[in-house]
Amino acid sequence: MTRASAPGKIILFGEHAVVYGRPALAIPVTQVHADVHILDSVRPGIWIDASDVNLHAELNTLPSDHPIASVIHNFLFLSRVSPFPNLEINISSTIPVASGLGSGAAVTVALTRALSSHFNFPMTDENINAFAYEIEKLHHGTPSGIDNTVVTYAKPVYFIKGQPIETFIVGKPFTIVIGDTGIRAPTKESVGDVRKLWESDQPKWESIFDEVGNIARKAREAIESGKWEELGNLMNQNHKLLQEMTVSSPALDTLVSAAGEAGALGAKMSGGGRGGNMIALVPPDLAEMISRHLMEAGARNTIITQVS
Ligand code: PMV
Repeated sequence: MTRASAPGKIILFGEHAVVYGRPALAIPVTQVHADVHILDSVRPGIWIDASDVNLHAELNTLPSDHPIASVIHNFLFLSRVSPFPNLEINISSTIPVASGLGSGAAVTVALTRALSSHFNFPMTDENINAFAYEIEKLHHGTPSGIDNTVVTYAKPVYFIKGQPIETFIVGKPFTIVIGDTGIRAPTKESVGDVRKLWESDQPKWESIFDEVGNIARKAREAIESGKWEELGNLMNQNHKLLQEMTVSSPALDTLVSAAGEAGALGAKMSGGGRGGNMIALVPPDLAEMISRHLMEAGARNTIITQVS
């Protein structure tokens, strides 16, 4: 049997503007993960069991653009495995789908790693990341590549589209509370809507994306030098710009305000938006209390994570 797993991720700064070449910061979230087991089988075919998404099917009965099928087809093509093997592939994930925690990228990366080791077809992190980016492009239109990069390397990333991976230093550990609205919203739609805005007035949106890029740069400095007050203010500023991009939502805004009222140093929505998750920078001793406050304000779930 072969096993592999990959963590979730959360974007700290710069979502959406990152699609337009501005920097963004993201971290892995190891409290949630996707796990893949592969077994050789006597039953003919490649059987996929992913009960979280209610999938129990033989590969060839799935549309070829199905997110999981496309990973397997592309891997078999790349590795030239022949004849086609009989396999049982079990996929499970604790990462909520369509909520900004990188569930799609994590399943792709874990599955590719498991296939690569099962077939003794070595792939470096760089190979896995490039492969996962191609898969993201099939399903998300114009992804920046931030999700697959953070999930593959499983470390904090200062990301600029098309540039070599750069990590960032965390001067002093800090604590983030992640609050889930429980609303699932496809990133493809919010990314498409921001593109329409950009197409309608490029100078205006380029300058907003510049502002977001500057916030991400300053945030990196604040993280490196441990200036949490400043980092919190930068989160609030980034959230306002995401509201302008129309990608926040009443549920996200409610949780962001609730975090501020409960003593967070700053808060913002995270990821594609319209639903999914928000994050709050919190004093460590207030993390549990702020997390409870978010649940009272309507969060479906919260995760407390330390970035170090
Ligand atoms: O997958 P999500 O919801 O974390 O969103 C990805 C971040 C975007 O900037 C909105 C899109 C992208 O490809 O970078």
